[in-house]
Amino acid sequence: MNLDELVQEDRVHRSIYLDPAIFDAEMERIFHRTWVFVGHESEVPQPGDYRTVRIGRQPLILSRHTDGSLHVLLNRCMHRGALVCRAERGNTTAFRCMYHGWVYDTQGRLIGVPFPGGYGPDFRLEDYGLRKVPRVASYRGFVFASLAPEGPDLLEYLGQAKDYLDLILDAAPEGTITVRSGVEKYHFPANWKLQIENLLDGYHPNFTHQIAFEIAEERKGASGRKANSEGSGALTRSFPGGHAVLDYRQTNRGYRAGDRRWAAYRERLVQRLGEKRAEEVLTADIQLFIFPNLFFQNARQHYRVVIPRGPELTEVQAFPYTLDGAPEELNRQQVQSLSWWASPAAFGQPDDLEAFVRVQEGLYGEAAPWVLFSRGLHREKRLPGGEVVGDITDEVPQRGIYRAWKEWMSRGE
Ligand code: FES
Ligand SMILES: [Fe+2]
Repeated sequence: MNLDELVQEDRVHRSIYLDPAIFDAEMERIFHRTWVFVGHESEVPQPGDYRTVRIGRQPLILSRHTDGSLHVLLNRCMHRGALVCRAERGNTTAFRCMYHGWVYDTQGRLIGVPFPGGYGPDFRLEDYGLRKVPRVASYRGFVFASLAPEGPDLLEYLGQAKDYLDLILDAAPEGTITVRSGVEKYHFPANWKLQIENLLDGYHPNFTHQIAFEIAEERKGASGRKANSEGSGALTRSFPGGHAVLDYRQTNRGYRAGDRRWAAYRERLVQRLGEKRAEEVLTADIQLFIFPNLFFQNARQHYRVVIPRGPELTEVQAFPYTLDGAPEELNRQQVQSLSWWASPAAFGQPDDLEAFVRVQEGLYGEAAPWVLFSRGLHREKRLPGGEVVGDITDEVPQRGIYRAWKEWMSRGE
């Protein structure tokens, strides 16, 4: 696999979307080494709460033990390998394997096996606890795990993306969010990177989402059409590590800026953050991507986790969230906006999925092996510290993502 050939500054080769060997390498070298988001603490608030999750191909359980501690456990029975937990989420005092009945507590200790006499005197329960992920860290309720025992710590890994995450989370008057509004899941038969590229793509909305914009203009008198046009003032930003932002702040379309209905909400923010920061937060019209697979939709709507299931199969989970301390009406509006844009019958996201499937099929055309990411290369600005900035329609984030992709992939060779 010649990575320098496959991933160049202005183009990538079709095989990175199709080749099962490259997919395997991505799981090993990217997902099994970086920090990957595994869930929000508010999803498992009570002792015994758990949810099952995946990092790359590894099946895991995020659980809250009776002492309140969080654990990320390998969801794999130490006897003969079955998942010990099949449910997506729930509350339990123990995980009992359905195959031969081995039982583990919510911090992963093996607490019982049926007919223990068959194992002889040297068998010790403590040797067969569920395996734990080597590193787990939280930032403002967001739990990340790394399958690599060593490497940069979480804050170092997040780098400049952390400031934008703060900008999103500071919109909660209490400083925290709650993920309690369910999850929307979808699959599509195409490579996971098509979704990642798309989430940071300010070039496509005017075309892919033409209908959605027309409906929005009819109903609300506004759409994203102007903001996603060349020269609108909106920007693409790419950061070291592959993290990226679509920054619409210059277009002043922040939906709450100056909105009287939210006066009390604004007041609460000012109390906590001061006038200047509160204004910054209220007008923070941004989309944030944290490499390799966590994405925040237009400030405070929902976040999405992109889960690769195969070279040509991807699962996405979208979690709406509510802002702790914000008016109920605002939170409700926020959760509802997910179904307007991104549910299966919505006006936005389904059109993106159609594009992914067309790309995946188009990539079988061998005579044209390159996918272009050259847009805006001649006019992007490189700032000290490694940030790159471009027009909203430029492929700055995609180039940044593939720089990070190549770095992680090369490290493993
Ligand atoms: S595989 Fe779990 S008890 Fe046998
Ligand atoms: Fe889109």
